[in-house]
Amino acid sequence: MSSPVKNAAGVRIPSTYKTPARLTDPDVGKDSIWVEFVGLTNKHKALNLGQGFPNFFPPAHVIDNLTRNGDKYLLNQYTRGPGHPPLVQALKKMYDPLLKREIDAMKEVIVTVGAYGSLYCAIMASVSEGDEVIVVEPFFDCYAPMIKLAGGIPKFIQIKPPTDPSKANTTANWAIDMEELDSMFTSKTKLVIINNPNNPLGKVFTLPELTAVADIIKKHDVMCISDEVYEHLIYPGVEMHRMATIDGMWDRTFTIGSAGKTFSVTGWKLGWCIAPAYLIKNMNYVWQNVVYTSPTPIQDACADSFMIELKKRDAGDKDCYFTALADELLPKRDEMAKLAESIGLKAIIPEGGYFMVADAKDMKVDIPKDFYDDSVPWDHNLARWLIHDKGISTIPNSAFYSPEGQKENNHYLRFCFAKDEATFKKTHEEFEKKF
Ligand SMILES: Cc1ncc(COP(=O)(O)O)c(C=O)c1O
Repeated sequence: MSSPVKNAAGVRIPSTYKTPARLTDPDVGKDSIWVEFVGLTNKHKALNLGQGFPNFFPPAHVIDNLTRNGDKYLLNQYTRGPGHPPLVQALKKMYDPLLKREIDAMKEVIVTVGAYGSLYCAIMASVSEGDEVIVVEPFFDCYAPMIKLAGGIPKFIQIKPPTDPSKANTTANWAIDMEELDSMFTSKTKLVIINNPNNPLGKVFTLPELTAVADIIKKHDVMCISDEVYEHLIYPGVEMHRMATIDGMWDRTFTIGSAGKTFSVTGWKLGWCIAPAYLIKNMNYVWQNVVYTSPTPIQDACADSFMIELKKRDAGDKDCYFTALADELLPKRDEMAKLAESIGLKAIIPEGGYFMVADAKDMKVDIPKDFYDDSVPWDHNLARWLIHDKGISTIPNSAFYSPEGQKENNHYLRFCFAKDEATFKKTHEEFEKKF
């Protein structure tokens, strides 16, 4: 009989233990970009302009709804697995007009821990071993590992900058090549994942663009995950269109949302998926066995928050948070663009979301040779150096690309502009002082 093997930390690992193969895939068995950059930001006490969270309070009622408990002692106990009844009813009210249909709250909605939970369950509910999944890139970094955990094979189609570089300064001119997309399908393709508005670019797909993607999806008769967590952050001149509303798409589309983004409470980690009953049923077979139900107090607070904001929405109140947050973020977006330009970056103005990508190719910065790590892309080195040398934290945009996509997309940084006045003031001061 073999005996345990001591590892470097002195832990005796049973000789029969082997890391499961699915975790040894280089895309899965590694620290995510957040581990490195949150760690570096904290270590250097850097000004955090990268990670995606608002550093201001959500509407007061959202917090009040969570902290009051009254005599509802059951709020401290498990609730219905696929979603707390008041929340699924509120989500129905929210999405009926947006998805242009009568949603069945008990059969066509599932509530999960974060949009992450919905992404995971939707992927697990639609991908079998060896299936191919087409992902629109840049993409939220967990998509590819989740596809691989399900046994699938991710393939990537880029949102490309225009050929004329002078037009690259707005995401309106970045686009998917539809012929290329069409050519990527094989008999193994089962699913397309699109994020609209896109993180990190902030591109909001036009109706003709979404319709063209939908036509290809329907032609090849596959499923679609539409990650719409930034659905309310839409800037003037742009309209949010939803994949599930395009003719023939509801039946095959998972629409994913997030309370973290909707109410500026990313730490609450509450998300949902709206889809036909046959898909929600399969998602729930995953959900009931990995988590079972999302925290009841958070679901209840979100239900109440939705009801308050829906009243405002239906009354046409300009203070409704679903639109008010974008109004508040618009000047911040433009200020962040000016700040980026002031240090030699070229801002790519986003049409939605709260991120802005900026081209750093012409930035005058010397990364010392002994600091440079050849195993990661240039922008990754740059982002590390900006934290180390300037105390400024951004996210290297290559983190949102496949290894192939990183080759051409290794010179951009991602900024988050959902930041308070004090952060902007500090950014002005720091940029002036250090560049
Ligand atoms: C595009 C996208 N999808 C999903 C998520 C995850 O959302 P949640 O925090 O609700 O899990 C994020 C979070 O940043 C995101 O940017």
